[in-house]
Amino acid sequence: MLKPLCALLALAIGVSASAVPQSPPPPPPGQGLPPPPPAQGPPPPAQGPPPPAQGPAHPFSAQGPPPQSPPPPPPPAGGIDPMSPDPYYHPLSDFDFQSINLALNQEWIELDLFHHGLAMFSVEEFEKAGLNAEDRYLIQFMAEQELGHAILLTNILGERAAKQCKYQYPFKTVREFVDFCQKLTRFGESGVYGFLEHLDSRAAANLLLQSITTEARQQQIFRQFEGLFPMPVWFEAGITQSMAWTLLAPYLVSCPAENPRIEWQNFPALNILNNPDATPLYKTGIPGNDTTPAITHNRTIPLSYPGREVHFEWELPGKKVSYNDSYITTTKAGEPKFVVWVSQLNITYTPLTNIKGQSGSTIQPGGRVFGDNTAPIVNGTMFVAITDQDIHVTPFNISFLNDHIVAGPALYQSG
Ligand SMILES: *[C@@H]1O[C@H](CO)[C@@H](O)[C@H](O)[C@H]1NC(C)=O
Ligand SMILES: *[C@@H]1O[C@H](CO)[C@@H](O)[C@H](O)[C@H]1NC(C)=O
Ligand SMILES: *[C@@H]1O[C@H](CO)[C@@H](O)[C@H](O)[C@H]1NC(C)=O
Ligand SMILES: *[C@@H]1O[C@H](CO)[C@@H](O)[C@H](O)[C@H]1NC(C)=O
Ligand SMILES: *[C@@H]1O[C@H](CO)[C@@H](O)[C@H](O)[C@H]1NC(C)=O
Ligand SMILES: *[C@@H]1O[C@H](CO)[C@@H](O)[C@H](O)[C@H]1NC(C)=O
Repeated sequence: MLKPLCALLALAIGVSASAVPQSPPPPPPGQGLPPPPPAQGPPPPAQGPPPPAQGPAHPFSAQGPPPQSPPPPPPPAGGIDPMSPDPYYHPLSDFDFQSINLALNQEWIELDLFHHGLAMFSVEEFEKAGLNAEDRYLIQFMAEQELGHAILLTNILGERAAKQCKYQYPFKTVREFVDFCQKLTRFGESGVYGFLEHLDSRAAANLLLQSITTEARQQQIFRQFEGLFPMPVWFEAGITQSMAWTLLAPYLVSCPAENPRIEWQNFPALNILNNPDATPLYKTGIPGNDTTPAITHNRTIPLSYPGREVHFEWELPGKKVSYNDSYITTTKAGEPKFVVWVSQLNITYTPLTNIKGQSGSTIQPGGRVFGDNTAPIVNGTMFVAITDQDIHVTPFNISFLNDHIVAGPALYQSG
């Protein structure tokens, strides 16, 4: 499978100009800004009265709108000029390269994972889990989307771009495969939201965003395949590159020697001893209990709730991890004191209690994103980590949290 893939990739890189636009069409003279949205202006000419049948062949000529059109409104002031500086669809810094190369490693594992799951289980096993031929084709199509994303990011990064690796997976059943897919795509998506707005190359960020919105759809579909409520949050959280790398690293077994070293920090691993488990299959038809694949299921019996005690165990730094054992876990944090819950727009802390060596507990927090009658903060597939301080960070400056991570993050299956 790998050979034809490489050939395809080489071919695609050869015609990279088509996948990564080298320069968009020039803006109209004297205007750097895109045209205003039509809804705010007068109706565009195409919606106006039809041209006389006997009129000139092309009444809307290059000279502009037909004479009967009033002038369009001037574009609102401000915004980033798309041509100044010239858009550059490639990394403009090490930060850009390392961020996008991490995302590329994520796309590669997803491509392998979706194929792997389809090949690993029999048609009968998929059918028993409630996934029919059309569902399996959707997973196949998702693998093809990953190929597209890998081609795009390879074109953005150029020759040094990471190649595909060999992977290991923790699942033995179709349900566990689906659960792993919804978790892996969760940190793939959140990992990009954490850095997208900090990239130096806005042009590359634009293209990456258009891939990651596809990944967001995949995550939701895997939740549906698992019989979960498809989107129990109002906002999708962002995490740092080091957090995403910590979550991804264990599944990479060996990578080509020429792959660029991933320069993000790898935190000590965190294990949730009583993580809610969404994998059991209940074909009961009872709302709140039934977990067969569906567009949506009410979760009247939620997987978790505020006040639930959660137990953790974590590793000490200095452990070799990831492909070819070539990375080592590190931390800059002091003593473990808090658990941080990263969900929606919120970064919430609870005290870590019952600390004994590398184990401890906490209580799942309540709280709603915008107060009473709004979405509960803790829901869906989200992130928890052990920290030494409860510093105030927002989704935009969450990278300050890196220095305070004792261990983690881990994915908490709160809903
Ligand atoms: C990792 O190990 C594989 C298999 O032994 C080898 O081919 C590859 O070059 C190694 N990669 C690195 C980064 O050392
Ligand atoms: C759903 O029903 C099954 C089978 O009756 C039962 O074992 C399980 O505990 C129920 N799950 C929940 C969350 O109530
Ligand atoms: C689903 O949950 C909503 C919100 O709790 C509730 O209003 C609705 O009646 C439930 N529907 C079913 C079929 O359980
Ligand atoms: C998560 O959201 C679902 C859907 O709105 C809701 O039924 C469930 O109670 C929520 N879970 C928690 C832990 O709040
Ligand atoms: C969650 O984050 C939003 C956006 O920053 C903020 O307005 C809200 O107060 C936070 N909610 C809580 C309970 O802290
Ligand atoms: C992150 O940003 C918020 C407000 O934007 C600020 O209050 C907070 O101090 C910042 N955190 C750090 C660690 O600088």
